[in-house]
Amino acid sequence: MKVLFTDIASLVSPVERFGELEILENACFLVEDGFVTFIGTERVPADETVSLSGQTVIPGFVDSHAHPVFAGDRAQEFAHRMMGESYGAGGINYTVGLTRAASDEELRSNLERIVGEFLASGITHFEAKSGYGLDVDTEARLLRIVSEYTTDVTFLGAHVVPRGEDREAYLASVCGEMLDRALPYSKWVDVFVDRGAFSVEEARRVLIAAVGKGLKPRLHANQLENIGAIDLALEFDCASVDHCTHLSDADIEKLAHSNTVITLLPGAEFSTRSPYPDAKKLVEAGITVAIATDCNPGSSYTTSMPFCIAVAVREMGLSPDQALWAATLGGAKALRNNLGTLQVGSKADFAVLDAPSHIHLAYRPGVQLVSQTYVSGRKVFERN
Ligand code: NIG
Ligand code: FE
Repeated sequence: MKVLFTDIASLVSPVERFGELEILENACFLVEDGFVTFIGTERVPADETVSLSGQTVIPGFVDSHAHPVFAGDRAQEFAHRMMGESYGAGGINYTVGLTRAASDEELRSNLERIVGEFLASGITHFEAKSGYGLDVDTEARLLRIVSEYTTDVTFLGAHVVPRGEDREAYLASVCGEMLDRALPYSKWVDVFVDRGAFSVEEARRVLIAAVGKGLKPRLHANQLENIGAIDLALEFDCASVDHCTHLSDADIEKLAHSNTVITLLPGAEFSTRSPYPDAKKLVEAGITVAIATDCNPGSSYTTSMPFCIAVAVREMGLSPDQALWAATLGGAKALRNNLGTLQVGSKADFAVLDAPSHIHLAYRPGVQLVSQTYVSGRKVFERN
């Protein structure tokens, strides 16, 4: 079955070099068996033709950092923060309590709502972490449930030490029984290395155990403070270090000479009223940057990649082109997969924007510009 998408005002795809886009105007493209097999300005024969009536087509967003499986919310915590209270990740234990008490059905239905919101925001692939169970059974349960929705599943047993538990015993469990139970569902391991969470030494123990059993490492690093997590990330060739709100010049220099992506999470600074990292400086240093939602009920309860792009452009100094790159190919690089482009051979994961160009994503903040989303050439979202 060949489907030709036509009448595209601008067809946008990132190319290999950070921040650079290839833009074809008055374009059409052919999808066959879930992959793009032709891109051009002339029409080619097809079984079906779909007119996109002068809209813009971009690759589906690749959300490389999300915590979408949990119960309840923390709206009051957010309200207090907006009135001046600071964020210290202490609310994680509140969500853990609600998550442990929730049934599989409740967790699945909350997750499905979030996945629906992801699709509506143009996200066609997402990474998903555990980390709100923090006991052997609940962590395994979260990972099992979320693995029904994505292949990029991350074991985050080392999110924080659960309230009332012995630190050493908990770490031993994370590196032992909890890890073993996580393995069948997980591809990645993550540790929250920060003030109030885990030290570099503790995180190293978790990474050694998990990498030794075949998981690939990534880190929550330098969100609240710089406690030296970047050196640890580079020691393990982490695919990505995420947050990076506080980085030293030496960190930047080392990251620039590594294969590790920095995943920026604009929703987290926004919702915790924290200073924004200087993305322009990172890009100028030659670092590959991704943008992700960090969707979670505490520090960043957004499922909107366009919102994150708008904030990254307005507050972090990325250009609209760079921000689009970071939210598509950047996310793919942070997950070390081959998604995030729209070229011949790409998986036909794309979003249609009701706008003449991708710049409108940042230019028109808060507007539902994504009118349709496709995964493997199949429509999975359409705006009313
Ligand atoms: O990525 N920083 C650690 N974890 C999450 C927040 C978790 C929470 O507050 O519930 C984050 O921001
Ligand atoms: Fe996070």
